[in-house]
Amino acid sequence: MAKQFDVVVIGAGPGGYIAAIRAAQLGMSVACIDAWSTADGKPAPGGTCTNVGCIPSKALLQSSEHYEQAATHFSEHGIEVKGLGLKLDTLIGRKDSVVKQNNEGILYLFKKNKVTFFHGTGSFVAQVDGGWSIKVSGTSDEDLVAKHVVVATGSSPRALPGLPFDEKKILSNDGALRIPAVPKKLGVIGAGVIGLELGSVWRRLGAEVTILEAMPDFLAVADQQVSKEALKAFNKQGLKIQTGVKIGEVKATAKTVTVPYTDASGAEQSLAVDHLIVSIGRVPHTEGLGVETVGLKLDERGFVVVDDDCRTNLTNVWAVGDVVRGPMLAHKAEEEGVAVAEHIAGQHGHVNYAVIPSVIYTSPEIAWVGRSEQQLKTAGVEYKAGSFPFLANGRARALGDTTGFVKVLADAKTDEVLGVHIVGPMASELISEAVTIMEFRGAAEDIARICHAHPTLSEAMKEAALAVDKRTLNF
Ligand code: FAD
Ligand code: NAI
Repeated sequence: MAKQFDVVVIGAGPGGYIAAIRAAQLGMSVACIDAWSTADGKPAPGGTCTNVGCIPSKALLQSSEHYEQAATHFSEHGIEVKGLGLKLDTLIGRKDSVVKQNNEGILYLFKKNKVTFFHGTGSFVAQVDGGWSIKVSGTSDEDLVAKHVVVATGSSPRALPGLPFDEKKILSNDGALRIPAVPKKLGVIGAGVIGLELGSVWRRLGAEVTILEAMPDFLAVADQQVSKEALKAFNKQGLKIQTGVKIGEVKATAKTVTVPYTDASGAEQSLAVDHLIVSIGRVPHTEGLGVETVGLKLDERGFVVVDDDCRTNLTNVWAVGDVVRGPMLAHKAEEEGVAVAEHIAGQHGHVNYAVIPSVIYTSPEIAWVGRSEQQLKTAGVEYKAGSFPFLANGRARALGDTTGFVKVLADAKTDEVLGVHIVGPMASELISEAVTIMEFRGAAEDIARICHAHPTLSEAMKEAALAVDKRTLNF
């Protein structure tokens, strides 16, 4: 006898588990199915984000930053470190225990919210009386019937053609988070978010890291001024970044990976490394879902086709997160999960796609929300810009980290904030003020008039807003 639910969510990444919790909060009977397992076969809900994405990468970024600080910056504070060493096993082990705490936290939240969890692969069987028949194949096989289904099956790393990931020499984000010994030489294909974050981790731990990027411009998704400042800082740290390259046929042996490539000037080059991280974007994951069985519509790139409210072409079937259009970000997936649960409950769920922040957790951190200067120019929008350097911020000086700036872009006539771009310390935390202001369609003057605590990095945001009106107080 099939178990009946109001909502069955397939996938317990940030899109799926949040949709399940919100639907349960709204009084519905909810099941969530997730296939991810620990090495010993236990459930590991949380998806890419928890297991091999956001959480473990930030744990390694934190540990490696401590190591680099101790090695190179403590002496500026008069702190002498003798016999500094690195226990990579402990560092990776700590990361694994942070992941485990998050897996367990999600299982606890399911219990607390009365979400029934099934460990296994969920697939569509057919449309039946009262909804959709879903089969779970896993620890124990189950037949479920759901009035509504939320597909939240996430994404997988994209491989270079003819170069599958073996997670030993050719690494996706998964293998790149658990290299057993610090490589002497590490190659990275793609200077995107993963390439920069994980390239930074291994460089800080002692590897010579070379990142090869196909696009002619570095970090073209960010505001140009920000990309330029970040590139300067990364070069200074010794991260070797080459743009405008064309990768040839990569050869991997048990010892070395050889990457032939044509550089920006057209010259043939070759890079020999111990491991190669391939971080050239991700592809939507719908394998095993039974897409064809029920006719769930995918686009030409494999994304589940949805409307603005995350409805698919099938009645009462919704899709959220990396498996649908839009930025592949955990917080975007979560917002969609909440909105879909609220729609199912008859409420007015909504995601403001124009105000989704982006963050790169390198040092300096990079964060932005809204449009860049180049996007405003292309769209012909008249705007005013104001910037403030961390060099002129007291807290940044006290921290000993004065790289970068805050830049506020506002409409030339109305003063409404159109974009905020930060490169510098704690940009990931500072950006939320800009998100709040933009969500309320506030003006640069609103930021400028708000009292910011002193001494804080957030004063750089206030000063950048003052700079829009050409009246900074401290620069
Ligand atoms: P996922 O997290 O991919 O979860 C999908 C889940 O569904 C998985 O558990 C999968 O096993 C399961 N599943 C798939 N098919 C089935 C099936 N048929 N049956 C049952 N279960 C199934 N984003 C940020 O916002 N901030 C960051 O700092 C950040 N860092 C990242 C670092 C790295 C290295 C990577 C790779 C990604 C990072 N991301 C970050 C992106 C973020 O991880 C994703 O955007 C987010 O995980 C997407 O959530 P999701 O719920 O759509 O899918
Ligand atoms: P990405 O899209 O950020 O970067 C991929 C880079 O690879 C691009 O610069 C692209 O031009 C380049 N590239 C593509 N093909 C290439 C080729 N053949 N040769 C050389 N370069 C090539 O993708 P990435 O870094 O793989 O990350 C995947 C997703 O995960 C991102 O879209 C992001 O949304 C998410 N993520 C988010 C993080 C965060 O929010 N801090 C951290 C890590 C990942």
